[in-house]
Amino acid sequence: MMKTADSASAGTLLTIDDYQSPQGWRQPADAKQRARHYCDQLEQGKVLFFNRIPFNFPDENQKFLLSQKQSSSRLHKNVSYRPKQEKLRGSAGNKEETARLHAVMRSFSQETVKFLSELLQPYAAHWTLDFASFRPEQEKGRDLPVHKRNDLLHVDSFPTRPMHGRRILRCFTNINPTEARVWHTTDTFPALAKNYAADAGLSEFAAKGSRRSHPLVRGVKKMFGLKAVDHSAYDRFMLRFHDYLKEKEDFQQNCPKIRLEFPPGSTWMCYTDSVPHAVLSGRYALEQTFIIPLHALVTPEQAPIRVLEKMTGVPMAAPAMV
Ligand SMILES: [Fe+2]
Repeated sequence: MMKTADSASAGTLLTIDDYQSPQGWRQPADAKQRARHYCDQLEQGKVLFFNRIPFNFPDENQKFLLSQKQSSSRLHKNVSYRPKQEKLRGSAGNKEETARLHAVMRSFSQETVKFLSELLQPYAAHWTLDFASFRPEQEKGRDLPVHKRNDLLHVDSFPTRPMHGRRILRCFTNINPTEARVWHTTDTFPALAKNYAADAGLSEFAAKGSRRSHPLVRGVKKMFGLKAVDHSAYDRFMLRFHDYLKEKEDFQQNCPKIRLEFPPGSTWMCYTDSVPHAVLSGRYALEQTFIIPLHALVTPEQAPIRVLEKMTGVPMAAPAMV
């Protein structure tokens, strides 16, 4: 059954009209309460939506991004910017163009942080700033292996950056001047977990626990200058669940779908570890990722790790890591 009605997307999308750029909150006296409300809505699985870009993003920067040649390497289809290391990856231009691209991505990242520090004020003192990315490729018709396909419904997890229960919050902006970015979504994480977590092997992942990797493995990795990354039971399950959902044809074809269209010049954000998403079409989106610890959440009991722990009855990550 395909739900495409506005009423279905209206239940998922929450359009924000009491915060604008550059003025900020319409009623500054209510800022604290409104910010807490929007954190709560995100944690309930809503997608917060602005029909314009609610932070400073100069036209000339947008035009520069739209004019960028794409790299021919499949590895670098996206441009990524790592704010903490001040590193840019995936530039296909010469030295000057790369320097400009770096500056534009840095500015986008900094402005997004400034904006969300106000809109989601309860999180701001606690989050870890993750990568930003620019996605210039047309999503429709990409030929990718099943686990890498973006047009299949999934929830996010990062193979190289274990979360230990912390949340993945992503803020997107569509700078395409003419084309919307189109998503499908479906029931949020608690329903997905109820229907599919057991079949995806949740109890086996929980039983294995959150062991550190073997000292020998850590030693070998160190020898080659690699960091040993410890994945909790939660991380291992979420990585499997990502692949499981993409592999499951019956789920992909028959689950109820809600179509979300993000028009040119719009901005939206959600917890992509609990809001399933498939990108059907669109090109030229930017995104900044934030990692939110559980103690910063307004309703931590709704976090995927807590949902899974309720089902298994055992901790899925070491408490100190969450
Ligand atoms: Fe994703």
